[in-house]
Amino acid sequence: MSKPVRPIKRLPTADAYNQWADVYDHDGNILQLQDDEAFNATVPGLLSTRPPSRILDLGCGTGRHTAKLYRLLPEATEIVAMDMSEGMMSKAKARIDTEPRRDVKITWVLHDIEADSQIPQEARGVDAVVCTLVMEHLRLDVFFGAVKEALKKGGWMYLTNMHPEQGLSSRAGFVAKEGDQEVKIQGVSFNHSIEGILKAAREVGLRLLGEVEERGVDNAEHAQQLGKRAEKWIGIKMHAAMAFCLDLD
Ligand SMILES: C[S@@+](CC[C@H](N)C(=O)[O-])C[C@H]1O[C@@H](n2cnc3c(N)ncnc32)[C@H](O)[C@@H]1O
Repeated sequence: MSKPVRPIKRLPTADAYNQWADVYDHDGNILQLQDDEAFNATVPGLLSTRPPSRILDLGCGTGRHTAKLYRLLPEATEIVAMDMSEGMMSKAKARIDTEPRRDVKITWVLHDIEADSQIPQEARGVDAVVCTLVMEHLRLDVFFGAVKEALKKGGWMYLTNMHPEQGLSSRAGFVAKEGDQEVKIQGVSFNHSIEGILKAAREVGLRLLGEVEERGVDNAEHAQQLGKRAEKWIGIKMHAAMAFCLDLD
């Protein structure tokens, strides 16, 4: 029997995430699994070879990676955790409250970089930026303009996004119940090509470190490991990860 087609409801991105926040961490999102794998493979290495004193988690969401950074960073450092969604950020704050206390300061900044590309003062002059699964919601010039304002020269950025192959037929979103009906809720979304991302990065002076890493669902066995929702993505690239450095000149 074919699956019912759910109507799609497009909302302003902050409204979509305010609703998504309650289930975001446990709705079986395959991209998050791939994102965790990519983060664990690259970010601890960057933190030890290019240690930051202040790091910006841009679009921190429910704090999936904010909590990891909180554990990984040396004492007397600072994480600036920025997001536009109060709902997502309140989950991130609750997550950090469950962590054993450390001398790592967290500065919470509720800010929409699309509505106001002027980055707040608290988020400027950081040594590193981590930005995972956020850029899909932003125009490239807005996104990279904000990164350039936030990042110190010599600093680095770790960036992940939905892969454009998956983006041909998917967008970030979740299934909600409205009365008797299930609807798919989505925010604003752009399907950025890898070439487009690299070009926009170069235009603000960001140099690619190493290569772009691409992850997908390789075969049926891999799909089984990832979970039920991975089956339909066999043979499709889903996740792209890359790191950049803002050269001193
Ligand atoms: C898919 S979630 C990713 C959250 C987290 N980085 C992670 O990997 O789980 C995207 C996040 O980007 C935030 N976001 C989207 N557009 C934004 C904007 N214009 N300014 C600030 N945050 C934004 C959303 O509110 C949401 O929390």
